[in-house]
Amino acid sequence: MPDQSYFTRKPGGDRVFSVEAPKIKFGNGVLKELGQDAETLGMKRVALFTDHRVAQQESLTIALDSLKKTGLDCEVYDEVEVEPTDRSFKAGSSFASEGKFDGFVSLGGGSVMDTCKASNLYSCYPTDFLDYVNAPIGRAIPVPGRLKPHIACPTTFGTASECTGIAIFDLLEMEAKTGIVSPRIRPELGLLDPLSLNTLHPMIRAANAFDVFSHACESLTARPFTHRQAPDHPARRPLSQGANPYSDIACLEAIRLVGKNLIQGVLEPHNENLESLMFAGMLAGIGFGNAGCHLPHGMSYAVAGLCKDYHPDGWSSDHALVPHGISVIVNSPAVFRFTADACQERHLQAAWAMGAETRGAGIQDGGHLLADRLIYLMKETGIPNGLEGVGYGSEHLEDLTERAYAQKRLIDNAPCPVSRDQMKDLFESSLSYW
Ligand SMILES: NC(=O)c1ccc[n+]([C@@H]2O[C@H](COP(=O)([O-])OP(=O)(O)OC[C@H]3O[C@@H](n4cnc5c(N)ncnc54)[C@H](O)[C@@H]3O)[C@@H](O)[C@H]2O)c1
Ligand SMILES: [Fe+2]
Repeated sequence: MPDQSYFTRKPGGDRVFSVEAPKIKFGNGVLKELGQDAETLGMKRVALFTDHRVAQQESLTIALDSLKKTGLDCEVYDEVEVEPTDRSFKAGSSFASEGKFDGFVSLGGGSVMDTCKASNLYSCYPTDFLDYVNAPIGRAIPVPGRLKPHIACPTTFGTASECTGIAIFDLLEMEAKTGIVSPRIRPELGLLDPLSLNTLHPMIRAANAFDVFSHACESLTARPFTHRQAPDHPARRPLSQGANPYSDIACLEAIRLVGKNLIQGVLEPHNENLESLMFAGMLAGIGFGNAGCHLPHGMSYAVAGLCKDYHPDGWSSDHALVPHGISVIVNSPAVFRFTADACQERHLQAAWAMGAETRGAGIQDGGHLLADRLIYLMKETGIPNGLEGVGYGSEHLEDLTERAYAQKRLIDNAPCPVSRDQMKDLFESSLSYW
């Protein structure tokens, strides 16, 4: 159990945390229940979003058979871009508007689920594209009402997009990753079937597992919810509330499951490893959906957004990209060494949960133990060696800092204040680790 002494009171700080629980069904074979679940949600004509590669997997056949058996009319859209851009969100939205659907199914990873959320949104409430996008890039206007039902069926296990009201994309004209955030775009139901993960490339499993770890560890070490200014209206309490007793429990267990299953789950997985990793992904999603991430994710948007010529093994994409989980984990060892002083015990607990040898360690050793353990696991699973491993050098530090420092929501959720110079130092320390 993480330490409760973390939640000290501050004048003006919040005393309340809210609990948002997504509706999830989990287990081998649950995808076969899709048709009946869609029917229960009142769907008759369904838009099924996927991407080219997932469209060739058995999961699509299972999903379509299940929808057909219940007599639902279904059209497949398999044009989703991997690591989507605004172009992909707009194309999906046009398909959604033209098809006169009354419900949505997404079958794929975060790219597919996010594109489906955005397409549901813009087809229900059409407006200028930037209206719903996060400020300051967009206008962040509230979503006007309920969307059509959406059942998310992940075929990866890292993003937990099925649990969140977040849709992330690359805005091409600004070379920036940003997103749309609203509880209204959260899927109505998630069907988590570990059997869908069998066909994942090992590097995608590695990137996903580190994304799960990062969601959980950043939420566990986020500033306590009691140190965030209390909102002037309950409706304005943010989704990123900071660490709280509910998210703590989910996050520590998620880290423990990743620590136990990561190496085998990447190199030669059994179904039990994939089941555990998918369950960990769900727990971490519940955790970060209520607490929020901080620096590694904030920095990752710059790492992904400025990528020019990195083409990783395993991803089917025609454009250069740093996959999300990799863009996050390359920053993490440097960050956790830096943030450890702000909440030493939590860093030590995370190091222990991730499988580090903590016997005989002092509380002040947590940050280094955690960073060393991460570097070991990165090497074992073939993750690139820091920022240099994905094509950056010291000449990019200024641009990376400029981009990442704009991620105010995430930076403010760190357990300690971070100056611009400190962020640049963090990028410098992330250049290479071995
Ligand atoms: N909405 C959120 O809360 C949230 C959180 C984190 C990340 N994201 C976003 O999610 C995206 C990344 O998602 P992801 O990591 O799930 O990967 P992805 O959806 O980008 O897919 C990665 C690759 O795996 C392939 N693939 C997916 N499932 C497969 C399967 N079962 N078998 C074989 N190949 C398969 C895809 O075709 C693709 O080539 C990024 O855009 C990221 O920014 C969203
Ligand atoms: Fe993530």
